[in-house]
Amino acid sequence: MDLFCHKLPKIELHAHLNGSLSKLTLKQLGCLENSISQYQSVKAIGLKDAFALFKVAHEATSNTKNLYIATQNVIEEFAKDNVVYLELRTTPRSEEGMSEDDYIETVIKAIRENRFDGILVKLILSLDRRRSREEQTETLDRIIRFKNSFPDLIRGVDLSGDPAKGDFFRDIFEKARENGLKTAIHCAEIQNDAEVKNILEFKPDRLGHGTFIHTNPELWALYKQLNIPVECCLTSNVICLTANSYAEHHVQEWIKEKLPFCLATDDKGVFNTSLSEEFLHIHKASKLNELELWTISYKSIEYSFASAEEKNFLRFSLEKWKIKNIKDNE
Ligand code: IMP
Ligand code: ZN
Repeated sequence: MDLFCHKLPKIELHAHLNGSLSKLTLKQLGCLENSISQYQSVKAIGLKDAFALFKVAHEATSNTKNLYIATQNVIEEFAKDNVVYLELRTTPRSEEGMSEDDYIETVIKAIRENRFDGILVKLILSLDRRRSREEQTETLDRIIRFKNSFPDLIRGVDLSGDPAKGDFFRDIFEKARENGLKTAIHCAEIQNDAEVKNILEFKPDRLGHGTFIHTNPELWALYKQLNIPVECCLTSNVICLTANSYAEHHVQEWIKEKLPFCLATDDKGVFNTSLSEEFLHIHKASKLNELELWTISYKSIEYSFASAEEKNFLRFSLEKWKIKNIKDNE
């Protein structure tokens, strides 16, 4: 099954650029061994400690040269894992000698100059919930400006950052939607019923995590009525201790109730995982067979922010792969 999960053409819809940097990339970018070794020791940490680890990657990508290399390396690694469609997300930030515009331009350049065949890459830009309403609005205006120049590449806006801090500002996301951007919002990573209700009522195109929705009957009923696809990041949740184990992960509720979800890595560098491994985990935890695993990948195409044409192309290639690789009688 390891080989099957590796070879399966996969759709990655929830990957944070800086959280996805591999140890090799960190090394290449001049990161010190003792910083990198913090990654190696990650087995079980709280969300708070996970956030401290992003500093390591942020230091490594604090100039455009390194950011460019980091972006290309992440794309290469996903391509080697047979990810055929990648929605990479990142938070525009400024550093000494690099403005937010420089940051976005560099990531766009690295994606456009991608040298790897067989992977289609789109960009989602993130708003950091720790930032103020004014700062988030300013970043959104910047994102809209870039989206108008690169509509094929920039497809959506994400809300992420420490879930224990900051706010979801609905009007900011209304504005994103009015300007033709899709919305993917981190939601219910920790218990926060009032905010979850606000987010659900906004009806984003996708939700990240959705860990504490089914635990509240009122929210669960509302969610099921809305039927919004959830990006499930199993290893991330197990390591951050918001899921007890793979077998007890909330994705089981989605499987049981036939609700829409995709599998995702979240931060493959920090959590030392790959999308193939996420498929393997769900295979083991839920006893899913090859056809069921393929179906998760296939359905994810629908939840992606790809164009209708791109979705058709992806469906066609997955169907072709299925005929060649999965026996009918499964
Ligand atoms: P970046 O946006 O490319 O810099 O990727 C790292 C950033 O993604 C972090 O600083 C967080 O803001 C965000 N992030 C990564 N993983 C998570 C998560 O599990 N929950 C919320 N935010 C996250
Ligand atoms: Zn995330």
